[in-house]
Amino acid sequence: MTVSPPDLDLPACDFTVFGATGDLALRKLLPGLYERERQRQLHPDTRVIGVSRHDLDDAGYRDLVTQALFDHVPEDHLEAGAVHRLTSRLHHLALDANAPEGWDLLHGLLKDHPERVGKDPAEDDLTRVFYLAVHSDLFGPICERLDQLGLVTPQSRVVLEKPIGSDLASSRVVNDAVDSVFDESQIFRIDHYLGKESVQNLLVTRFANTFLEPIWNSRWVDHVQITVSETLGVAGRGDYYDKAGAMRDMVQNHLLQMLCLVAMEPPTYVGGDPVRDEKLKVLRALIPLTGTDVDRATVRGQYTTYGEEVGHPSSTETFVALRAEVQNWRWAGVPFYLRTGKRLARQESTIEVVFKEPPHAMFPHSEGVTTPNRLTVRMQPDEGMQLHLTAKHPGPGGIRLHPASLDLSYADAFDERSPDAYERLLMDIMRGIPTLFMRRDEVEAAWTWCEPILERWDETGLEPVRYHPGTDGPAAATRLLARDGRTWQENA
Ligand code: BG6
Repeated sequence: MTVSPPDLDLPACDFTVFGATGDLALRKLLPGLYERERQRQLHPDTRVIGVSRHDLDDAGYRDLVTQALFDHVPEDHLEAGAVHRLTSRLHHLALDANAPEGWDLLHGLLKDHPERVGKDPAEDDLTRVFYLAVHSDLFGPICERLDQLGLVTPQSRVVLEKPIGSDLASSRVVNDAVDSVFDESQIFRIDHYLGKESVQNLLVTRFANTFLEPIWNSRWVDHVQITVSETLGVAGRGDYYDKAGAMRDMVQNHLLQMLCLVAMEPPTYVGGDPVRDEKLKVLRALIPLTGTDVDRATVRGQYTTYGEEVGHPSSTETFVALRAEVQNWRWAGVPFYLRTGKRLARQESTIEVVFKEPPHAMFPHSEGVTTPNRLTVRMQPDEGMQLHLTAKHPGPGGIRLHPASLDLSYADAFDERSPDAYERLLMDIMRGIPTLFMRRDEVEAAWTWCEPILERWDETGLEPVRYHPGTDGPAAATRLLARDGRTWQENA
């Protein structure tokens, strides 16, 4: 069967990045744009305008980005021609988002796009993307300035990096400020986990096949585990991270979004609102954790060298494990265990859907030998899926049972490489496709659920449990599952 090629053309666009010299821009956004350039997908008139407080001219910014591409693009993807094409599109403007100076220069540059020359200013239909890779306190002030400068047209889009605010009230303030300038359809709240191929494939596996649906519920699923384990610390991002911690940095967004994709009902079709409506229902069905429930159902950890890394003693958590439940017809009584941490033993992100044991041990000597069926969605490393089964061990000696697995490795199954999550999302933004972005109500529902946990940790003054770098995190996370008679699945 031939598969029709995807529609790859992107509109001409002015892509403005606030925070253009920051870690995210240099490590992810520019390399993402580079890959699209390498594939010759960027429109010839597309420009990339970096905005930061650094006193850099265009040439200085081009040098900085060239170095970043050499540092972050895989060597076999580096092509001098593509590097040159991308860097020729780059401009840089120094401006402080909170100060009045410099905005006229941005205005001048953006109104001077080659596509616009000689055209009626009243018919300004150029796609303008404003990517705010800065702290969310700056989202409101930046949007207000863009509005005052007349840069917000129906074709303008704003991209908001997470976390939006640091709790429900502050996220509302930020969202109100952005909403007063942009329509919800123009706002792209990014959660890059939704751009990962394997995360999107979870939707396809669930809803483009029939075999899973009948067993994707509390009758057959024993529990779900979602793990994002990182070996890196917070190097270079300590200022941000120390105020955020793992709950705000990872759980409120990435982990809860993955939980939504596992738990949601089938949307009527894969489009912005149907998908987001279903995710929202899941977030609203999460049983609130409050008071002493928080003490029982959550673990907060910090690696022992964290204070040294950030340069002062700190109570910020670098590890969270928790037990959540979705109170609806499909999932009542099924625990969802979430776990994330930095400086752990493994660099690995997985979703494990663990099924119940067969109702009856019918093979001789099979009691205690069978392992429950399990579907592993591996986001990294080596994106793919594994279905764990019990099989007959080949050869004589009666029916001996043995664990086996059906493996789908993306690298082996497909010729195309898996694009980085940001690459995919940057294209969706330029095309104006909102499905893989969070809607305001989702962000707020996620805060509503996380907030009492953060409050309880604050109230009780609970210090994070220390764990040694390079381990699996605090033993309390193991006990969290052991209390329910379960263990974390380690796939090493
Ligand atoms: C980011 C967090 O959103 O996700 C980082 O701010 C984290 O702290 C990163 O390291 C993890 O993303 P990935 O794609 O490397 O798993």
